[in-house]
Amino acid sequence: MKERSSFSGRLGFVLAAAGSAVGLGNIWRFPYLAAKYGGGIFLLVYVVLVVTFGFSLMVAEIALGRNTRLSAIGAYKKLNKKFGFLGILTALVPIIILPYYSVIGGWVTKYFVAFLSGHHMEASSDDYFGGFIGQTFEPVLWLAIFGVITFVIVLCGVKRGIETANKFMMPILIVLCVAVCVYSCTLPGALEGVKFYLIPDFSRFSINTVLGAMGQMFYSMSLAMGIMITYGSYMKKETSIEKSVSQIEIFDTGVALLAGLMIVPAVFVFSGGDQSAMQSGPGLMFQTLPKVFDSMGGGQFGQIVGALFFLLVLFAALTSAISLMETVVSIVIDKFHVKRVAACIIVFIGMMLLALPSSLGNGVWSHIQILGMDFLTFFDFISNSVMMPVVAFLTCILVGYVIRPDTLIEEAQAEGAPFGGKGLFVFVIKYLAPVCIVAILISSVLSAFGVISI
Ligand code: PHE
Repeated sequence: MKERSSFSGRLGFVLAAAGSAVGLGNIWRFPYLAAKYGGGIFLLVYVVLVVTFGFSLMVAEIALGRNTRLSAIGAYKKLNKKFGFLGILTALVPIIILPYYSVIGGWVTKYFVAFLSGHHMEASSDDYFGGFIGQTFEPVLWLAIFGVITFVIVLCGVKRGIETANKFMMPILIVLCVAVCVYSCTLPGALEGVKFYLIPDFSRFSINTVLGAMGQMFYSMSLAMGIMITYGSYMKKETSIEKSVSQIEIFDTGVALLAGLMIVPAVFVFSGGDQSAMQSGPGLMFQTLPKVFDSMGGGQFGQIVGALFFLLVLFAALTSAISLMETVVSIVIDKFHVKRVAACIIVFIGMMLLALPSSLGNGVWSHIQILGMDFLTFFDFISNSVMMPVVAFLTCILVGYVIRPDTLIEEAQAEGAPFGGKGLFVFVIKYLAPVCIVAILISSVLSAFGVISI
């Protein structure tokens, strides 16, 4: 049998997994959800979910991969023939996410170039964002540019280079985020926003908060879509799973919390107390940050900071898009036995076609609504709020009741590694997660169809 290539050690593993985890989910998606679902209460629910549910599921996925030395489709089948379908369901998730992820990646590319070329003043005006995404051709062009960059990197196998670059980019991104945070939190009027973001208001709690936070946790930690299984299959036996997971979580959650602190208080400052700005959804980052950079004054200073910021976000988005595209490419290669080049081309074309509705849904196709959502929101909903919970639920059933948690606990304790969270792991996988997911899923589906309101 061919020796499976592996990561050099814990640092190598953590960096690669964090490269996949830290992306638009943290910087674009987390802040707008936090704004929409009540600030502090969302944060609290999110962090609780990460350290219980996210922790257990990530340990399970990595251990599953390392135990079977296979990626999702093969791994589930090997553990239990009846669960073969779960591999296929899992594989569908990145196929749905990659296209709309690339649409947002295109927006980031556009903003980077706008700042670079001195159009930052326009970018901070109120209708710039809406005017841009509502067009037919321009967003598709930026989507294609982002898609081609991802495609070339995946095709040429120069992932290595990107990952090396990322080792520098990530720390710079974090330092820059901290600096922008400090700046935006000290703007006049920001304090109200900081309070809103950090202090939980329990009257704002609802099932929707939990559903939103749970979907975000899967998305941000790259869970419930087979990616961590694949990464685990490349992990060495002597690398501690528990320690790696804790580090990835700290990294991933840290960036998300910072991004929120950078954006949410600034919304308070620039909306002049207009709370509806908090509900603006996917556009929040693009509408708010240019105003923050613009207010930095000092001639070109804001422009430089803005350009640098969008460049770093672009890098974070690329590493995530690469891991999504790699996953889909390997599925195509395994299923259709085609060469890598052919698989990359098929995936690229498929991605572009599937991304078109998400892009056009903000303009010429905005009259087409599915369950009251535009295409991008719908794909986001179906993957994060429906498919990922289903995959996570079935994974818990498989691990908790079919193969039993002991197999994976042994895997996590390989070579004498300590596993302090063992008790939590068993409790979450067997009881807490399955019960919560079913309850939340049923209520969310019923509310999407208008049967109940939550
Ligand atoms: N976790 C990534 C993010 O936060 C998104 C992603 C999901 C990447 C799944 C790869 C796989 O942006």
